[in-house]
Amino acid sequence: MVDVILGLQWGDEGKGKIVDFVAPNYDIVARFQGGPNAGHTLYVEGKKVVLHQVPSGVFHEKTINLIGSGVVLDPITLRKECNTVTEFGVNLKKQLFISERTHLILPTHRALDKATEISKGNEKIGSTLKGIGPTYMDKTGRNGLRVGDILDKNFTTAYIKLRLKHQRILDSYGFNEDISTWEEEFFEDLEFLRKLNIVNGEYFINNGITAGKKVLAEGAQGSMLDIDFGTFPFVTSSSTISSGVCSGLGVAPQKIREVLGVTKAYCTRVGSGPFPTELENETGELLRKIGSEFGATTGRPRRCGWIDLVALKFACMINGVTKIVMTKADILDSFETLQMCTAYQIDNKRVEEIPFQMTRLNIKPEYQSFAGWNTDTTAITSEKKLPESMQRYVAFINQYLGVKVKYISNGPGREQLIELA
Ligand code: GDP
Ligand code: IMO
Ligand code: MG
Repeated sequence: MVDVILGLQWGDEGKGKIVDFVAPNYDIVARFQGGPNAGHTLYVEGKKVVLHQVPSGVFHEKTINLIGSGVVLDPITLRKECNTVTEFGVNLKKQLFISERTHLILPTHRALDKATEISKGNEKIGSTLKGIGPTYMDKTGRNGLRVGDILDKNFTTAYIKLRLKHQRILDSYGFNEDISTWEEEFFEDLEFLRKLNIVNGEYFINNGITAGKKVLAEGAQGSMLDIDFGTFPFVTSSSTISSGVCSGLGVAPQKIREVLGVTKAYCTRVGSGPFPTELENETGELLRKIGSEFGATTGRPRRCGWIDLVALKFACMINGVTKIVMTKADILDSFETLQMCTAYQIDNKRVEEIPFQMTRLNIKPEYQSFAGWNTDTTAITSEKKLPESMQRYVAFINQYLGVKVKYISNGPGREQLIELA
């Protein structure tokens, strides 16, 4: 049995906090896609920790964490993160496993990411520059190197071959930054990676399922950044939606039970690309300020706007979402009036569907207004105590999406989560 937690917007919905909260109910937490472009924030013993590669179940002693085959792994980031989590007493030998099929991010992948972004000028994706795109390109282009390969005696030869290929492309971009320090670090950290638990991930997880273990698949990025269904080309390079769980972990679709979709009570996006409900005004700035909306991986200010129900409904459809988690409800505590986007106006036509491409269209969001609740909700622990106007806000979301909000998160802390009937 596998449950899934994934983002329904453009990332940073608060997935990490929710995974950390529910992890004690699971035996295995597995990342199925993405890489160090992710930044999942948790509070452990009152301290803030941002995880990029390691799954967010790692702080629960009895939960095993798997970096699955669909992930792309940077050994340098991994080692840094392993150092951080061991300071909290995490036992890596017992708690962290890495699939042999996981593709490796090489220093030249990071360089290529930078070179391609520079070459795009104003049309850049706004990538996190972690080497994600080039690594997935080498995977689908059938050139990449995988974690299992580092145990092979010919690894260095294969590395040099691929590096040469990358160098030719970098030369064609005129990219001449010195990456020798990255390479030194990379080879040092490969030694560290070799000593971790490297497993045949698909058997690891399926044998667990057969033995009755409960698995939680943790998504990174968000549905609107999905390579196939997101706002292409302003997307990431992996399958961020529930079908990515099957291809990224090697589990069959009928093993998936719940799909918990996480959305903020409003909406944010970091990097370039369409964002119909973006507020480039004081309200947007207020959301950014109150919500501390700055990227957990790159520190960039996040673009902010109202919740977009058209995009959310699309995300529920392609994921088969069974329950919704609404995070950062507390950020709306001081707003007099709230807006929800219920349709788009495109060329004077009202549409409730996500168009095939959004970049070349002039999309005007159509809003429905709601009264704000104007009270501090951060200490509320039960549904009964929620302000009536918040309950109306949630009821409208339930009705529009046809999927129910099951949890409301009202603060960054683990305990700030209200379960709804
Ligand atoms: P993720 O990438 O989906 O895991 O989300 P991020 O960690 O990038 O961004 C979410 C941010 O919101 C983090 O700083 C969290 O600590 C914070 N956060 C999560 N849930 C809540 C909430 O309900 N209220 C508030 N105020 N902050 C939250
Ligand atoms: P989490 O897991 C928000 C965005 C980047 C850029 C685009 C492509 O924390 O929600 P990439 O580096 O993947 O090539 O960048 O995707 N992006 C994210 N935005 N949260 C993330 O992860 C993201 N990972 C990538 O800003 O626009
Ligand atoms: Mg994040």
